[in-house]
Amino acid sequence: MSLSMVRVDENRKEEEDPLLESQLYQKGVKHLSENVVAKVPKKYIWPVSERPNNAIKGEVPYTFNSNLNLPIIDFAELEGSNRSQILKALANACEHYGCFQVVNHGIPCDVTSSMMDVGKRFFELPFAEREKYMTSNMHSPVRYGTSFNQSKDRVFSWRDFLKFMCHPLSDMLPHWPSSPTDFRKLAVAYVNETKHLFLMLMEAIVESLGLAITNNNITSQDNDNILEELNDGSQLMVVNFYPPCPEPHLTLGMPPHSDYGFLTLLLQDEVEGLQIQLQEKWATVQPIPGSFVINVGDHLEIFSNGRYKSVLHRAIVNSTRPRISVASLHSVPVTTTIRPCPKLTTEANPRRYMDTDFATFLEYASSSEPKKKNFLESRKLI
Ligand code: OGA
Ligand code: NI
Repeated sequence: MSLSMVRVDENRKEEEDPLLESQLYQKGVKHLSENVVAKVPKKYIWPVSERPNNAIKGEVPYTFNSNLNLPIIDFAELEGSNRSQILKALANACEHYGCFQVVNHGIPCDVTSSMMDVGKRFFELPFAEREKYMTSNMHSPVRYGTSFNQSKDRVFSWRDFLKFMCHPLSDMLPHWPSSPTDFRKLAVAYVNETKHLFLMLMEAIVESLGLAITNNNITSQDNDNILEELNDGSQLMVVNFYPPCPEPHLTLGMPPHSDYGFLTLLLQDEVEGLQIQLQEKWATVQPIPGSFVINVGDHLEIFSNGRYKSVLHRAIVNSTRPRISVASLHSVPVTTTIRPCPKLTTEANPRRYMDTDFATFLEYASSSEPKKKNFLESRKLI
């Protein structure tokens, strides 16, 4: 059956059609937006209460349009005489926003723009080339797909993605896409730079938690351990592609979720789309060219025994401009158990989360729809 025969009905009568499901939806939203344009198929329509711009009195978080002033951390200042002041700003951002933007981070502009560019070129490849990386295996070093979990999601999200694991680099590299031909070269440069920035940020965050003794260069045992673990830790790269959507008010690019790791370094283009939840309301993060949005993840929330909060966020789409983002998710090695740092728990402030590990998370992620902060909730003790 040719694609032209699989048109989505103007009146959206296409629901539950297994042929449409296999011919269109499973191939992703880029494919869909190129073949069917007038309306969003039912498969992508979110319940009213979860759609963007929806306000239901008092109960459901809604979008507000005021420009959100997310805390901005000037990374260059962290290394200067202002360090203690910047550490305070960092602690405040992690406690009250779970999110901040980093400017002057030192990653050369050509490294970030080349990563964006090669990501974009990957999505421009013929479907047959992209399809080579489609798999439902969560353990696969490379995964191309659509929505969040396309074999489980009841409602689909308007995004296609390419995920690739980055650690250990020499083992992972041969699995990465070989097309575009410069993909690996440009991605390696980006992976190395983001890893370095992540480690520097974590060093500061560990210090901001009061765990480091810096005046005589002695660092505590706990500290050395976590920074060492992170140095040898996991890194997952996610390139997100959100094509224009004919009815963006009905769907989401990505449903509300928190990221699992310690920190996510998110690079976005100039198109708005990322929203974070603050005081029960959705707020759009204004892109700052060349900066990173840094999200606190579930593992850092657990490590800090709840002092730093992972941020609930989502992506919305628009009808005119495609959007690309590149998320770099960092944590400890997949075999390491994550638990509250013993130095941060006391009798008055007992541990709030049980031990957890990647295997448990992956089991959770592949057995249900990862939404909201459900995984973290399931790890809470009090
Ligand atoms: C993610 C994510 C948001 C965006 O990849 O986990 O939240 O703006 N991305 O693409
Ligand atoms: Ni995310």
